[in-house]
Amino acid sequence: MSVSAHGASPIAQIGEWLKEAEKKEALEPAAMSVATVDADGRPSLRMVLLRGIDERGLVFYTNLGSRKAADIRVNPYVALCLHWKSMTRQVRVEGRASQVSDAEADAYFASRPRDSQIGAWASKQSQVLEGRFALEARVAKYAARHAIGTVPRPDFWSGFRVVPEHVEFWEDRPFRLHERTVWDLVDGVWQSHKLYP
Ligand SMILES: Cc1cc2nc3c(=O)[nH]c(=O)nc-3n(C[C@H](O)[C@H](O)[C@H](O)COP(=O)(O)O)c2cc1C
Repeated sequence: MSVSAHGASPIAQIGEWLKEAEKKEALEPAAMSVATVDADGRPSLRMVLLRGIDERGLVFYTNLGSRKAADIRVNPYVALCLHWKSMTRQVRVEGRASQVSDAEADAYFASRPRDSQIGAWASKQSQVLEGRFALEARVAKYAARHAIGTVPRPDFWSGFRVVPEHVEFWEDRPFRLHERTVWDLVDGVWQSHKLYP
């Protein structure tokens, strides 16, 4: 296995692929799956939207009462997968998730449309819903409560930053001889190698 050390990190390349996807992918180019594992070692998977990416990691936002948030509390190791059909590319990320700062979550929440902010207040995400009416009643309640002025961020709603330790880029090539490039963080330095398809 040939291994090369880089001063760079793979995060910049994820950002570049994402920028290309924003031009080419018709719907939700920032959609990614997040796999978590619960206290019994059982995995679960769902889609979220990638809402921030920089050298610190990849950020998504969610309800802290959700199943994914409960899993992360007992096991911070998660896996992400981005797939762009228009570009026949996939990125896999593995790493540790940690909650973003209140200031960061506040800033993102403030940027959301008002109806989405009210929706965040109204949703007891992943809890049993008695019926559609119960949800609509909660939307009406919080819309009335926050009728005037800015809508504050609920303390049960925040973001998680996934700090990558392992990244794989996959690109389609003819005859299934695909290109796979893996990056591993070893003693704080990113190293990369190729894999057979
Ligand atoms: C394309 C797409 C994007 C989504 N984005 C988010 C998101 O950013 N945050 C979120 O909490 N749920 C998002 N969801 C809903 C989740 O997939 C999931 O239903 C919800 O978060 C509850 O998951 P949990 O019970 O496993 O925690 C999205 C769903 C889809 C299909």
